Amino acid sequence: MHSDGPAHRITLAASDQTYECTNGDVMLRSALRAGIAFPYECNVGACGNCKFELIEGDLDVLWPEAPGWTAKDRERRRYLGCQSAPRGDCTIKLRPSAHYAPKHAPRRVNGTLSERRAITHDIEEFRFTLSGAMPFEPGQYALLTLPGVEGQRAYSMSNIADGMTHPRELHFQVRRVPNGQGTGVLFDVLDIGACIDIDGPYGMAYLRRDVKRDILCIAGGSGLAPMISIARGVAAERALDDIKLHFLYGGRTPRDVCGRDMLETLPGWAERLHFQAAVSDVAPDSETAWDGHVGFVHTVAETLFGENLRDMEIYFAGPPAMGAAIQRALVALKVPFDQVHFDQFY
Ligand SMILES: Cc1cc2nc3c(=O)[nH]c(=O)nc-3n(C[C@H](O)[C@H](O)[C@H](O)COP(=O)(O)OP(=O)(O)OC[C@H]3O[C@@H](n4cnc5c(N)ncnc54)[C@H](O)[C@@H]3O)c2cc1C
Ligand code: FES
Repeated sequence: MHSDGPAHRITLAASDQTYECTNGDVMLRSALRAGIAFPYECNVGACGNCKFELIEGDLDVLWPEAPGWTAKDRERRRYLGCQSAPRGDCTIKLRPSAHYAPKHAPRRVNGTLSERRAITHDIEEFRFTLSGAMPFEPGQYALLTLPGVEGQRAYSMSNIADGMTHPRELHFQVRRVPNGQGTGVLFDVLDIGACIDIDGPYGMAYLRRDVKRDILCIAGGSGLAPMISIARGVAAERALDDIKLHFLYGGRTPRDVCGRDMLETLPGWAERLHFQAAVSDVAPDSETAWDGHVGFVHTVAETLFGENLRDMEIYFAGPPAMGAAIQRALVALKVPFDQVHFDQFY
């Protein structure tokens, strides 16, 4: 379990803002815990959005091979906030951006694996009971520290915390990655009753409750969980009673398709909550017949909604290649950027 060592003081250059980072924590997450709007996205060293410049002080780089950290960054004393642990007091240069102001300050709790169930041939749901409350917004994610695995792994919650002052459960829907370290431990090593560190919530692709536009949720592969959470959030939010939600799930073959059964149980199903699925691989699947859409989700979304997408609030989650294709399609259709919310699953 995590243990907090002595704190180091981090000062933001060109402002009098300071915050504390304890031993065992990193620059980015301790800033967010203190309410500082430190820009970031993935939290796992991949996107490069959390870079800052070290002006004074010393730090440890936790994952020197992180794909988001380049040789040029090293030369310029630029570091990843999610992979930097200060050794003492530091001064850093960073441009906070209000967009990243945390809605809920991230906190570290213990999570006990209480239940798991299969969703498809390679996706399972893992439920953790928490030692302390972790309020979060539909669509956010948490970081799991798994035994024997370097760093943390990010997983989005599929449940919601609505109406609960002390949400004590997190549900994750995880796709097994062949030879993946983290998913290997989750699927094959963790027993019911096992206890791990969980840190969250994180992520900016959360449900905008104050926006009264119809919603399109696009989930590709492992991107199921946050979109299910958003659909559950919409169903539970009375202020969004008049909003229609369209859910589009994209898989490779018919046996990958999932999510419909989770929406069917929600109030408003078939009236204002709708589910469609697309598969990209038309080769006949020996076990499952298919009469749904065929193609990649971004082209199916374009065909189904066309220019109406400009009037919708769009959320999507899944692998970076899918995210890039959806973004290109939305730009071509002139969908306003502030109506589009996503986390890419590096
Ligand atoms: C915001 C976000 C949300 C996600 N939500 C989901 C979800 O809901 N469901 C789902 O199935 N997947 C999700 N993922 C993907 C998930 O986090 C893992 O990348 C995936 O499960 C593969 O992990 P692995 O350890 O099995 O694979 P591996 O190939 O062993 O590890 C890949 C991941 O681990 C990170 N990593 C590798 N080595 C280190 C290290 N030394 N230190 C720190 N990080 C390291 C990489 O950046 C990469 O993210 C999400 C990813 C992100 C960024
Ligand atoms: S948030 Fe640090 S690299 Fe993505």
